[in-house]
Amino acid sequence: MREFKILLVLVFFTLLIYWGVEPYAHSKMHHKPKPADFKFSDLQAINYKGDPAKGKTTFMNAGCVGCHGVKSAGLPAPMTKEAAAASFGVAPPDLSDAGLIYDTKFLKNFILNPSHAFLNAKKFNANKPFPMPQFFGVGEDKNKEVSDIVAFLKSVAPKELNDKETFEAACGRCHTVKYDKWTPLGDTPKFKTKTEKLAFDLKVSKYQDHLKKYMGAMPPDLSMMIRSKGREELEIFIDNPQKLLKGTSMPRVGLTKESTEKVINYLESVGDRKKAERETLIPKIIGFLIIFTLFAYLWKSKLWREVH
Ligand code: HEC
Ligand code: HEC
Repeated sequence: MREFKILLVLVFFTLLIYWGVEPYAHSKMHHKPKPADFKFSDLQAINYKGDPAKGKTTFMNAGCVGCHGVKSAGLPAPMTKEAAAASFGVAPPDLSDAGLIYDTKFLKNFILNPSHAFLNAKKFNANKPFPMPQFFGVGEDKNKEVSDIVAFLKSVAPKELNDKETFEAACGRCHTVKYDKWTPLGDTPKFKTKTEKLAFDLKVSKYQDHLKKYMGAMPPDLSMMIRSKGREELEIFIDNPQKLLKGTSMPRVGLTKESTEKVINYLESVGDRKKAERETLIPKIIGFLIIFTLFAYLWKSKLWREVH
């Protein structure tokens, strides 16, 4: 019976440290940042409803199509991603999904003043201007006009995107996900020859050179990011990178809560493929150990009884 008591004491202290002491120490040493702010409270409210038909006209007149494609509205990208990166440092994203994945208030503020909404204005100045110009309006109240543009983007957006599509639209122009063969130029195709592969790698590499120069830092590969950060921290970071990495050039892209969860789901599916399996395995292992301990104890008692 004595061994059994020792075991109980051991189990008690292990659990105490695991659930009591460790989380407490963690919370004391690791200051928790404020939770994500999906209301974008620092930005101005622009409460016009917006007219999609007018918005399309404004979108064409304001020159957005000079840089952006909108495939869902039949507007192809004006140049290849490689050429765009050479001009702007990054390929302006296709805006087919913008009306779905980005918060409405954020989107209006972004179009009026991109680097202000991105929270990376400090990186840009008169000598190095942000590549997307501010929208100053095309003749009427610019707040109304920007609301029309956003109504247009919403009208051409799909009703839903899956996790990976959301990631591609929101993060894909800057980040690679090597475990899923994603590059800023798209999915890595299947190559027939080594020369084909080298040619593709070279294109990606050139794109990344422009990107690094533009951003001032290379956007890291995100394959394993879910392991180092976890869901909660990623949510706060995506919602506002400055909260966790002050001065970073990674922009606040303005995703809605739903889209943020989709992006995190995608990163989890790539970086932690075994999560579900592991979660069902742990209780099984613990159960096995308990039963094993019991049998070992019974067997030992039996042996000693025979000796006495
Ligand atoms: C001179 C080129 C240029 C023009 C003109 C331009 N954009 Fe952009 N736009 C960009 C670039 C470059 C980016 C990506 C910037 C980055 O990721 O740092 C971008 C990004 C965006 C995004 C993504 C925002 C996000 O949260 O990631 C939206 C939406 C957008 N532009 C809308 C518009 C609209 C609407 C117009 C017209 C009023 C417009 N753009 C005009 C170059 C342009
Ligand atoms: C316009 C380019 C751009 C876009 C779009 C972008 N990122 Fe980043 N991201 C960066 C850069 C640059 C860094 C490196 C920042 C640094 O070192 O300061 C970075 C860093 C990160 C990091 C690492 C942070 C750390 O603590 O090291 C994570 C995680 C991340 N990005 C996730 C995302 C996700 C998720 C999205 C889409 C919702 C996204 N990024 C969209 C440019 C971008």
